[in-house]
Amino acid sequence: MMRTHTCGELRAEDIGKHVELAGWIRFSRDHGGVLFFDVADAYGTTQVVYDPEGISEGADRERLEKLFKSFGRESVISVHGVVRNRVPGTEDARNPTGQVEVMIEDSKLLNSSKPLPFEIAEQKGSLLPSEDLRLRYRYLDLRRVQMGNNLRFRHRLLSAARRALDAEGFVEIETPVLVKESPEGARSFIVPSRISPGSFYALPQSPQLYKQMLMVGGMDKYYQVARCFRDEDSRADRQPEFTQLDIEQSFVDDKDVQAVVEKILASVWRSVYGKELKTPFPRITFYDAMHRYGTDAPDTRYGLELNDVTDIVKDAKYEIFQRILGKGGRVVGVNVKAELTKATPTDESAVGRNEVDRLIEWAKSQGMGGLTWMRMTKDGLQSNIVKYFPKEVTQALEAKLGAEDGDLLLFLAGSEIAALKAGGELRRKLARDLKLTEGKDHQFVWLVGCPLFQKDSLTGQLEPFHHAFVCPTAGHIGEDEDIWAIQGMSYDLVLDGSEIGSGSVRCHDPAVQRRIFKLMGMSDEKIEREFGYFLEALGFGAPPHGGIALGVDRLVSILLGCESIREVIAFPKNKKFQSLMDGCPDTVEEARLAELQLLCLAGDEEEKNE
Ligand code: AMO
Repeated sequence: MMRTHTCGELRAEDIGKHVELAGWIRFSRDHGGVLFFDVADAYGTTQVVYDPEGISEGADRERLEKLFKSFGRESVISVHGVVRNRVPGTEDARNPTGQVEVMIEDSKLLNSSKPLPFEIAEQKGSLLPSEDLRLRYRYLDLRRVQMGNNLRFRHRLLSAARRALDAEGFVEIETPVLVKESPEGARSFIVPSRISPGSFYALPQSPQLYKQMLMVGGMDKYYQVARCFRDEDSRADRQPEFTQLDIEQSFVDDKDVQAVVEKILASVWRSVYGKELKTPFPRITFYDAMHRYGTDAPDTRYGLELNDVTDIVKDAKYEIFQRILGKGGRVVGVNVKAELTKATPTDESAVGRNEVDRLIEWAKSQGMGGLTWMRMTKDGLQSNIVKYFPKEVTQALEAKLGAEDGDLLLFLAGSEIAALKAGGELRRKLARDLKLTEGKDHQFVWLVGCPLFQKDSLTGQLEPFHHAFVCPTAGHIGEDEDIWAIQGMSYDLVLDGSEIGSGSVRCHDPAVQRRIFKLMGMSDEKIEREFGYFLEALGFGAPPHGGIALGVDRLVSILLGCESIREVIAFPKNKKFQSLMDGCPDTVEEARLAELQLLCLAGDEEEKNE
């Protein structure tokens, strides 16, 4: 062994022991010939000291001093020495090893390091380098304590989830990564086949159809920590490849799947935080989520609920509202309670006129005409436009929004969906600006009662709300049924205002599944070509089944309070979905394309442009 202890291990009780440490030199200091090195590894940092006065008789000082001169930042060394107390007053209370240091008796340079592109040790107030630089040298970025901790937390969470699923009798099964393309809402990456030129595999957007086929195969309870691939637009919570904790079970309904997920997460909580997680999680319907929170992923850790006040303000002579209501629009109100803005009653200081003006500008930037405000005072609602609102109207508004002295009422008007969505964004903005989630416990919510179908926002065409495999709540779709009113047996898991999981009970009856494909506008030929094998499988006694997939990267990044999921993935792609470390995506040689019988037009274009 190269070491007797890690760099995070030594304590006062080890004083006097002869030890071997190995790690990277994070800092070095020369105090009048006495050399101090902070040696770090995955477990911590230990101060090692070379004191020419204190070194034992037989030591080869000359060799050692020459060696120390070659030690640069992030050189890898091994150290042999004796543990001793630090000089009183030089202890480091923030470091678990900070009471002791190791007196060097001997040392070896195991490997040297080139000059670093950025500082690895985080010092108080130091800024991180740009993300692209961190990703270009990700292996160095991973040496930072924060990144190491993030990946270890992710590991602990996943291994606790695995243990809990094992205890529930789930079987971990790997499904293929080279698959037939199956639409799941995003674009798939495709992989050319050399052996069948002109044919392509796809990388799975999720193991959806394979896990359903495992149920047909009688596997009963499946799970997988599955890598998924989606060629979609970049966002802080999206990566082209990401990880799902994917689960499927036979002979279950929606409540059964939700209960299993709650049990798994409760077990993860116990293991990771040593705390009980409150279950069952609250459920909210899609309709309520949209109307109360302006989003299908509501953050219920704070109030600021939306209220539709259209029926009240229709009697006001306020031109802006009248114009919007005349076009069938709605008005949504939010009460920003005085205690949230920390304003004392009738004091405008916290969300004062300037802040309100900024909110109006913000609302315009969100595509709204603006934002209307009123402040509650002892004499009722006050604002520059309150004169257009008859007394009965302001009183009804006060009652509906529960206005008390000092509260600020904000109103957004527009088409129903625009007003609700802007209301949702306003909640999020206020929560951020007023730091409403600080110190609050995490809050899981199930989103249920979603429609089975929605209209594509660009083409207006019918498309599944989730994906094509969700079973309608009634188990079938009647011939004359109002398609838009049908709900699916689906459930999304929302954590602190972000969707971290999605699942459903599936169509196990091939006729129902076929009907859904037909409603999506697929011809019989297309259905046969794309899903013939799947419908065939359902026809061989598919059991009723359902499941869910939790987005592991999102879950971990929310629990760690990270800005982006890239912070919890060892080697993520950057915002342009490139891997800067190894330089991919990359071009391939002509010969490789020829072997695949492919012609690359993009390459030709580039050549033309050169
Ligand atoms: P869905 O597409 O909703 O469902 O995905 C499930 C969860 O995966 C996470 N997720 C992502 N995370 C990072 N980057 C992405 N590009 C990305 N896309 C999705 C989200 C999401 O909630 N087969 C179904 C599940 C099922 O029905 O069982 C599916 O994949 O957290």
